[in-house]
Amino acid sequence: MITLAHFDTHPDFPVPGILFYDISPILADPALFREACDALTPAPGSVDIVVGVDARGFIFAPVVAQTLGIGMSMVRKKGKMPGDLLESDATIEYGASELVLSPNGLEGKRVLVVDDVLATGGTASAVGEMLARAGAASVRYAFLLELGGLPGREVLKDFVVTSVVEVPA
Ligand code: PRP
Repeated sequence: MITLAHFDTHPDFPVPGILFYDISPILADPALFREACDALTPAPGSVDIVVGVDARGFIFAPVVAQTLGIGMSMVRKKGKMPGDLLESDATIEYGASELVLSPNGLEGKRVLVVDDVLATGGTASAVGEMLARAGAASVRYAFLLELGGLPGREVLKDFVVTSVVEVPA
């Protein structure tokens, strides 16, 4: 079973005061990687599309989408995707990040947002706000790791949120 012990930790990365949780040991172990993807996957038929968040969300989201037999869409960092895009400014745990999303194919859809970490919830709420503008029927979230000492869960209190592993507050 995946536990906190399967994450490598790096103090003061990428900036002083932040403890970085590295998912590499989980990716390196096919059984743990499979377990992580399965735990991120909701019941078949419960969502219509998976949205993966740049960059580490892209590791898990396509596996979840393929398991469910549905498509996925990408939330990218600004400047990496062309076309007619929705934009949102996200304040994250260690800085700011401008995100973009194509609204194509999202109207009326039940969306599952997949990412590796829930920290402040800034990224997730920015994604949710873009999905609302895209006309999504509903939004739920799945994270591999939830940092319990940060306000992410409270920020997303109006949504279904699952996390595979939680760091105690
Ligand atoms: C990280 C992580 C989440 C976000 C969580 O992304 O992958 O997307 O921060 O933090 P929040 O809840 O405070 O918003 P980041 O852009 O740092 O890195 P990545 O590009 O390596 O995924």
